[in-house]
Amino acid sequence: MKNILKCLIILFIASISIACSNDSKKIQINTIENFDFAWKFHEDDISGSEKTNYDDSNWRAINLPHDWSIEGNFSKDNPTFSRGGWLPTGKVTYRKTFLVSESSKDKRTVIYFDGAYRNSEVYINGNLLGKRPFGYIAFYYDMTKYLKFGKENVITVKLDNSNQPGARWYTGTGIYRHVKLITTNKLYIPVWGNYIKANKVENNQATIAVETNIVNDFDEDKFIDIQVSIFDKKGVLVALQKESKTITKNNSIQHKSSLSIENPLLWDTETPHLYVVKTDILQNGETIYSETSKTGIRTLEYSNSDGFKLNGKATKLKGVCLHHDGGPLGAAVHRRTIERQLEKLREMGCNAVRTAHNPFSEEFMNVCDEMGFLVMNEAFDEWETPKSPTTTQNGAKKKVLVHKYAHVFKKWADKDLTDFVMRDRNHPSVIMWSIGNEIAEMRYESAAKIGKRLVEIVHELDYRPATNGVHGYGSLKRPNQKAAATSDIYGYNYIKDWRLKLEREKFPNVMAVVTEHESAQSFYPRSTYLYGEKKKAWWDKLGYEKKESFDWVEKRDIRGESGMEAWKLVKERDYLMGMFIWTGWDYLGEVIPFGWPARSSSFAPIDLAGFPKDGYYFYQSQWSKKPMVHIFPHWNLEGMEGETVQVYSYTNGDEIELFQDGKSLGKQKNNIEGVEYQTWNIVYKPGELKAVSYKNGENIAEKIVKTSGAPSKIKIETRKTEMQANGQDLIYAECTILDKDGNEVPIANNLLRFDVEGPVTIVGVGNGDNMGLEPFKANQRMAFNGKCLVILQSTKESGNVKLTVQSDGLSSNTVNLISK
Ligand code: GAL
Repeated sequence: MKNILKCLIILFIASISIACSNDSKKIQINTIENFDFAWKFHEDDISGSEKTNYDDSNWRAINLPHDWSIEGNFSKDNPTFSRGGWLPTGKVTYRKTFLVSESSKDKRTVIYFDGAYRNSEVYINGNLLGKRPFGYIAFYYDMTKYLKFGKENVITVKLDNSNQPGARWYTGTGIYRHVKLITTNKLYIPVWGNYIKANKVENNQATIAVETNIVNDFDEDKFIDIQVSIFDKKGVLVALQKESKTITKNNSIQHKSSLSIENPLLWDTETPHLYVVKTDILQNGETIYSETSKTGIRTLEYSNSDGFKLNGKATKLKGVCLHHDGGPLGAAVHRRTIERQLEKLREMGCNAVRTAHNPFSEEFMNVCDEMGFLVMNEAFDEWETPKSPTTTQNGAKKKVLVHKYAHVFKKWADKDLTDFVMRDRNHPSVIMWSIGNEIAEMRYESAAKIGKRLVEIVHELDYRPATNGVHGYGSLKRPNQKAAATSDIYGYNYIKDWRLKLEREKFPNVMAVVTEHESAQSFYPRSTYLYGEKKKAWWDKLGYEKKESFDWVEKRDIRGESGMEAWKLVKERDYLMGMFIWTGWDYLGEVIPFGWPARSSSFAPIDLAGFPKDGYYFYQSQWSKKPMVHIFPHWNLEGMEGETVQVYSYTNGDEIELFQDGKSLGKQKNNIEGVEYQTWNIVYKPGELKAVSYKNGENIAEKIVKTSGAPSKIKIETRKTEMQANGQDLIYAECTILDKDGNEVPIANNLLRFDVEGPVTIVGVGNGDNMGLEPFKANQRMAFNGKCLVILQSTKESGNVKLTVQSDGLSSNTVNLISK
């Protein structure tokens, strides 16, 4: 068998190289070109700019992905309000001039946008290709009939994000995701036309089902072979199937293949094995179309008693909700931004993400596949009824109507949902779809009709179940039961213990997941420990009246919710599939409960610049097996000498001992099952606190916090030292201010200046302060509580890169990096 496979590989490689050879008589196979580079940009809707002869020579040259809003200044006058993070929005126009070769005459050329925010109108050579209101959806147009071959062509994209407030969070404005130019023959698989199901494993044998839509745009019938090959990660062919078919002129067929793999390497959260599926269409033995996708083989089971099972193993979803922005880079999608987010979440112990509350980028889904994240893939935040949340402007609270999806829902929802599922259904990471978040009409029976229709669309297209994140379970009034029952899995947002008990009694057979709940220690920015007058001044600045009800760890946050209790109620119930905390990372906008000058949320265990807050370690103590211990606050509590201070600790050990300046303050038990943390009342004096965690009497982890001296030097940390010279890769450099002995100075706010040498540009700076109103596009930034971030982007040139960080009065530091 192995030998046969080897022969097949050789034959297969030979056939590909023939197909690609430069013989003009041969039909060239399809191409996918990165279309992100060399665009022109102008603010506003420029009249006539869709015309071919429009002169854009004085427009700004830019590359995609691009978010125009993030380049702007925060202003109280921006109509995005606190919801949109006070950043500007408006109308914008993009143009790109490109040559189409003579040889494309007999081909089909498609332009593909992974997303453009929002209300896009796309023109080619003055002809309107289409309009698409939803800013988060991927879309494409066949432009063949308008193209000029052997000549220059112009694409114009007009976006309108001027109707504000336009969202409950920061959206960005622009072509903020990747664009591709797809060229195929007139016999082809359309975009998203190849559907791969890899969810059946029995007796160590996996069945991969591939359903392929093939279109013949020729005016004659075609006799073709369809060949599906599966390769493992080393490139070894592990399964192959070839079948002949006739496809009549101007027609399409749906072809089904089924392939088996013995002893498959399964995809799971720790070892996310991926296989490559290659689908070739051959004519007279020659490949005329070829496409590859990745797939992961795994079984998914959902039950009303054991929750969710991955490959037969009960797997609690230790999830986070995320919004789509990348902090200082705004909505512009970069693979490295996503990788860094998911790396840090993984280190926190997280295994699942909910794409709140809209389709994410293709890049995001790819990284989840590669890193083994389980995705609740969500489509909408509104159906037919618009949301009108409370917002704060100039100190006043008011209800605003958000102009987002409701006004287009009737016309577009079915198409958007279909395209969303079609784009993402090959991703092994997707474990369920979500048709909504806190949909206003879920209180009424009318929602049942809509919910049913949406779930039917999902079921027609895919085998995975649909959920719906519904609120109201925390209050006395419950959502309408007919409406709730339309989804396969009940999604509870902010549910309480008493309500869960009632639900289980009344509806014992439902499958359920906590789609959203408070995260532990929401609201305070990183490393912010306030006492007495300082605390009062901080709250006064933000004009928030309920300050006295709030502390860092106290069981309740401002809204009376408890992130810790939320996890406990999920952990105690096997039937609940898991939970998704609000949120995993801080995001721009929705500055609840604050107003100006806050411009980003602070719910998450990780701040907007990517630095963990204390809550991060709570989740690590609950979700991760890696031995850990964490104590806070820091020990630079100026003005608190002689006062009793509460110190908190988190660990996944079973006992913890605290030492102050070398003297033991005793041990406390850690009741990991009951979701515990410890508190210690300690008289503050500058010095050292050390926590030692024990498991079965063995020291498993230690953590020291020490009073530091004055700021003296800068530590620079990068997770990578090498970047790709592709004009899109990033390196994140995290800077920490240290005293002369190398201790972190957790209260330092020195201004850091960044200089680079070599083929990179500085594309963003940040520090995690949700009230910092300096722009993100700069080459300097004040540290916030000892930390600061700078982001470098590669160019298409390779070479050595040097990043130097300087600050008055501190010794500067340099790191050497490489772009290649
Ligand atoms: C939830 C909502 C989220 C976010 C959050 C803020 O109810 O689903 O989108 O608004 O509240 O606390």
